[in-house]
Amino acid sequence: MVEFSLPKNSKIREGKTWPAAEGAKRPKSFRVYRWNGDDGQTPQVDTYTIDLDDCGPMVLDAIIKIKNEIDPTLTFRRSCREGVCGSCAMNIDGTNTLACTKFLDEVKDDVKVYPLPHMPVVKDLVPDLTQAYAQYRSIEPWLKSDSQPTPGKERLQSIEEREKLDGLWECILCFCCTTSCPSYWWNGDRYLGPAVLLQANRWIQDSRDESTGDRLDELEDPFRLYRCHTIMNCTKTCPKGLNPAKAIAEIKQAMVERR
Ligand code: SF4
Ligand code: SF4
Ligand code: FES
Repeated sequence: MVEFSLPKNSKIREGKTWPAAEGAKRPKSFRVYRWNGDDGQTPQVDTYTIDLDDCGPMVLDAIIKIKNEIDPTLTFRRSCREGVCGSCAMNIDGTNTLACTKFLDEVKDDVKVYPLPHMPVVKDLVPDLTQAYAQYRSIEPWLKSDSQPTPGKERLQSIEEREKLDGLWECILCFCCTTSCPSYWWNGDRYLGPAVLLQANRWIQDSRDESTGDRLDELEDPFRLYRCHTIMNCTKTCPKGLNPAKAIAEIKQAMVERR
């Protein structure tokens, strides 16, 4: 049988431990991935124990508390703290999700916090999303139209046309889905992944957009679209309850219908 082992420099070390403050009534430990490209060290997992009686209810509250009160070097992204900006996406307790909408009560044992998987890491919990943003740019995510709207009027839609955008416009581009997709893990340089494809479908389905044919032409490719094998990890993990797998199926359907 073939044996696999990780190269020496990719092993994750046990890092530092910060015990709970004296008198903590409800201690909870957080095992947090740490990596800093500047020090030449391999990644490590640090353990911080905090008192939940002195902390907000969300995982993001705990991480902010750790940074503010224990270890200011801990690095992560966050902005809105209410599930709108998508910047606090990370892997918590084995699932890609938003730290600001994940309740601490939902995690029974130690809270394991890692960056989104299969992305290069900038530092600690911050993934490098350069490739994902370039792929997003490639689908030209804006309304494309040659016709001029009636002066002083909006481009109107019927209720039915507008409803087609539901389940698409709510996407906050957190990339939880894309980084949970095995097809993206192995072919992320050529496959667009569920987040970007859901966004592509958002414009394909928009009755006001006049570039549907060009948009489909751009996706008609064995890798950009057809690497989706309907494994459904994307839909399972989306913290906004969206269904990227369905959006991808709708694009494939549109491809068939125009033939
Ligand atoms: S359904 Fe498609 S996009 Fe979603 S996880 Fe599976 S392969 Fe990836
Ligand atoms: S579909 Fe869901 S998981 Fe994927 S980027 Fe949009 S909000 Fe995030
Ligand atoms: S901080 Fe904006 S989604 Fe979590």
